[in-house]
Amino acid sequence: MKAFYITTPIYYVNDIPHIGHAYTTIACDVSARYKRMKGFDVYFLTGTDEHGQKIQVSAEAKGKTPQELVDEIHVNFKRLWQVLNISNDDFIRTTEARHIKKVQEIFAKLISQGDIYKGKYSGYYCVPDETYVPENAIIEHDGKKLCPDCGRELIIMEEESYFFKGSKYVPALIKFYEDHVKAVMPRIRYNEIMSFLKGGVKDQSVSRTSLKWGIPVPGDEAHVIYVWFDALINYVSALGENNFARYWPNVRHMVGKDIIRFHCVTWPLMLLALGYDLPVEIIAHGWWTVDGEKMSKTKGNVIDPFKIVESYGLDAFRYFLLREVPFGNDGDFSELALVNRINSDLANDLGNLLNRTLQMIKSYRAGIVPKNEDISPLSELAPEILSRVDEAMNEYAYDDALKAIWEFISRTNKFIDETLAWKLAKDPAKSHELDYVLLNLYEALRLTGLLIAPFMPDTASKIYSQLGINDEPVKLLYESFSWGAGAGTRINKSEVLFPRIDINEWQKSKETAKLEQNSEITIEDFAKVDMRVAEIINVEEIPRSKKLYKLEVDLGYEKRTVCSGIKAFFTPEELMHKRVILVTNLKPVKLCGIMSNGMILAASVKHDGVAEALTLLTPFDETIPLGSKVS
Ligand code: ME8
Ligand code: MG
Repeated sequence: MKAFYITTPIYYVNDIPHIGHAYTTIACDVSARYKRMKGFDVYFLTGTDEHGQKIQVSAEAKGKTPQELVDEIHVNFKRLWQVLNISNDDFIRTTEARHIKKVQEIFAKLISQGDIYKGKYSGYYCVPDETYVPENAIIEHDGKKLCPDCGRELIIMEEESYFFKGSKYVPALIKFYEDHVKAVMPRIRYNEIMSFLKGGVKDQSVSRTSLKWGIPVPGDEAHVIYVWFDALINYVSALGENNFARYWPNVRHMVGKDIIRFHCVTWPLMLLALGYDLPVEIIAHGWWTVDGEKMSKTKGNVIDPFKIVESYGLDAFRYFLLREVPFGNDGDFSELALVNRINSDLANDLGNLLNRTLQMIKSYRAGIVPKNEDISPLSELAPEILSRVDEAMNEYAYDDALKAIWEFISRTNKFIDETLAWKLAKDPAKSHELDYVLLNLYEALRLTGLLIAPFMPDTASKIYSQLGINDEPVKLLYESFSWGAGAGTRINKSEVLFPRIDINEWQKSKETAKLEQNSEITIEDFAKVDMRVAEIINVEEIPRSKKLYKLEVDLGYEKRTVCSGIKAFFTPEELMHKRVILVTNLKPVKLCGIMSNGMILAASVKHDGVAEALTLLTPFDETIPLGSKVS
């Protein structure tokens, strides 16, 4: 069986997973699933990149060891891959013993063969930030060189460092790429890499003495191995000896265009030095922006894949990411575009086809798929679609594969309209024709289920279950499909695959959410709210109310009665003598017959308008006098 080994980049654990990470991993997952269904011996690897300065710094800030920190946060990625239905065979962490051992082994081997040597590294260094600043990032001011991050003056720093003699292997790499023009895809990236290589490559510094959180250089523990040198080796360290022999010669790396130099230059040079095969394909995809802007934490526009899946469903998300932009191109994420795809492609084209077909088989043939062996436009089109999908998948052109599948779906919908099954059903003499229509519709759906299975595994399962097929489509082989074999199957109940989203309702709910988030107020508006520190001095139940307590609070200068909807979260004892923040100048209101004169501030998590979790705001320093103003 032919092997197919596919990898994602290993993600930095200090980032919160977002749609960019989801995109790469979903693309790999679709390829892995597709190749399995084509009968390949697939190995699919992902993982996390856990060493480096940033981890060291944020661990210190949190009062943890770096290992404790990465043990906690790498789980964010594992959880996301579970939620996204990712079928990876392994998950490698660069802090695992198997990885560290391999990296040190490789480092030592390259030292012993003279491809790693000790030299001097010098560059502009920011002492407080403990980092070298690349020449092109330096800020020049008054003849001084300043750090772009903190603005302080840089010094020239020189330290011992190990260097990798990659330059030696550049001609061999150029030759390889000349002979393998598909080794870097798409073509635009191939050209970029070739011209970079031809411009010359310097030996790279591959160790640091300024950094502690990394893999020690074997035999010279003052140095740790540079994170990228460490990270790239994951693709090999994860395999172990047997799997290396089995999978390495068929490795494919999927990466974002941001990291192609590491993957298409540094890594292959390392592999050449080691005498390992070069990657069969390195596939670089484009960059996602959001509503036209770069995603960033400061802008607050980072798209959380967990939330998108929760709101719109997993398979719609998987479909959208791969359908919306040609692979390799940049793309822009917008929820409106996602909603439109759900309504048109999924609910309308695919969902309706399934419902209409099952409905007819149920009404006209008592739920049993009739037999028929006549050739139809659909049975004729099927092999062409299969081969177009295969061609596209071999080019990682997921959007083209999906377009071909949807062409088949559209043709099938048209077949329903052309053949007028409901008319045939009224005429007993047309029974043979009706069998022909129903069998072909059913088979088209059975094939569609297989075709979409790598992209939307859950939906494919649902389709198969409604079609009355017990097998899991993701476990089947394309080769085993034979047109007509579905005859005689008893179908199941038809259910809606993708509920239509009412676009007006959706737009309204978005606008409301935006207003809630964005409506700005001035500092003068804010100053109108009088908030003060108060102490709860009495708590009484209100017999008629499940939610409210009647509280008495002391502001120092006066006492007030306040009704507060916090009963579900605290006992009276817990509240007694707590210092809280009271809004004092709210217009009094009558609640359950009691005049409430003020409002206590609380933070809550709400679901459908109902608080599920709630906590009170209290002064950090409990000794602050009662009546102190909050501003
Ligand atoms: O670079 N659009 O990890 P990383 C599309 N640890 N893809 C995006 C994206 C976006 N806006 N943002 C991120 C590293 N990605 C190294 C890799 S490999 C030996 C070491 C995806 O967490 C894309 O695949 O910064 C990109 O290459 C990857 O996340 C970078 O992840
Ligand atoms: Mg990055």
